[in-house]
Amino acid sequence: MDNKVSSIGVFDSGFGGLTVFKSIAEKLPQYNYIYLGDNARSPYGDHSFETVYQYTLECVEWLFEHGCPLVILACNTASAKALRSIQQLDLPKRYPNHRVLGVIRPTAEIIGDFTKTQNIGVMGTRGTINSNSYPIEISHFFPTLKVHQQSCPMWVPIIENGEHLGEGADFFVKKYVQQLLEKSPDIDCILLACTHYPLLIPKIKEQLPKQIQVLSQGEIVANSLADYLERHPEIEQKVAKQAKKTFYTSGDINTFNAHASVFLGEEIEAQKMIANH
Ligand code: DGL
Repeated sequence: MDNKVSSIGVFDSGFGGLTVFKSIAEKLPQYNYIYLGDNARSPYGDHSFETVYQYTLECVEWLFEHGCPLVILACNTASAKALRSIQQLDLPKRYPNHRVLGVIRPTAEIIGDFTKTQNIGVMGTRGTINSNSYPIEISHFFPTLKVHQQSCPMWVPIIENGEHLGEGADFFVKKYVQQLLEKSPDIDCILLACTHYPLLIPKIKEQLPKQIQVLSQGEIVANSLADYLERHPEIEQKVAKQAKKTFYTSGDINTFNAHASVFLGEEIEAQKMIANH
């Protein structure tokens, strides 16, 4: 373990979680954080349940090992495919004092407040959409709300390759937005259920009528974390408050630094993740 003090761990398959991390660090700047991007194995969107669970668990255990009593899965795909197993199988047996939280539940809890028509669109990776996690989770809180889903498998690769502002992105943004809108004329709110997608917001908005609202998860997850820490002083008290942010990637450090600064709006110097085993 090279970090002696405790931090809040923030995990994503790659860069996308940085959009959530940015909001968390703005809302709760006092805490120490470790961000881990599994860039060497991203994108996760098309991997099986077993693979996403195995990769996510390895990264979560690495963050535990590096002094994080609490880890946020800032990735919808990992939240959809790995969170439940980690919470129900791994934590009780092997890590009873650690906590792992995802991004789907906090979003589902409040999504109904953003629609007048009771029709929302959810855009995500194939993994997130095919898991049906959003319709299932939302139905617990807003049983009458209609959820129209659209998978957007090309968006993460476009963003991870730094092409989100380029002309090449226009084709696939238009394609998936139109496919979603064809599902219902009543959609008045679209949730970007992938932490990469906020980088495409300007292009997504170009394809939408003004009355349709676009919602991303950064602020929602940050507010929910603030609330969680208030309700769980036993975890909150473990986290060091030196406002220190450390970044790790399983991929290439230089590539990560260059891309991450785009997601985060600040220069960073990442370190290489050396696997536990
Ligand atoms: N950013 C991740 C999410 O929120 C997915 C990216 C990937 O496919 O790896 O779903």
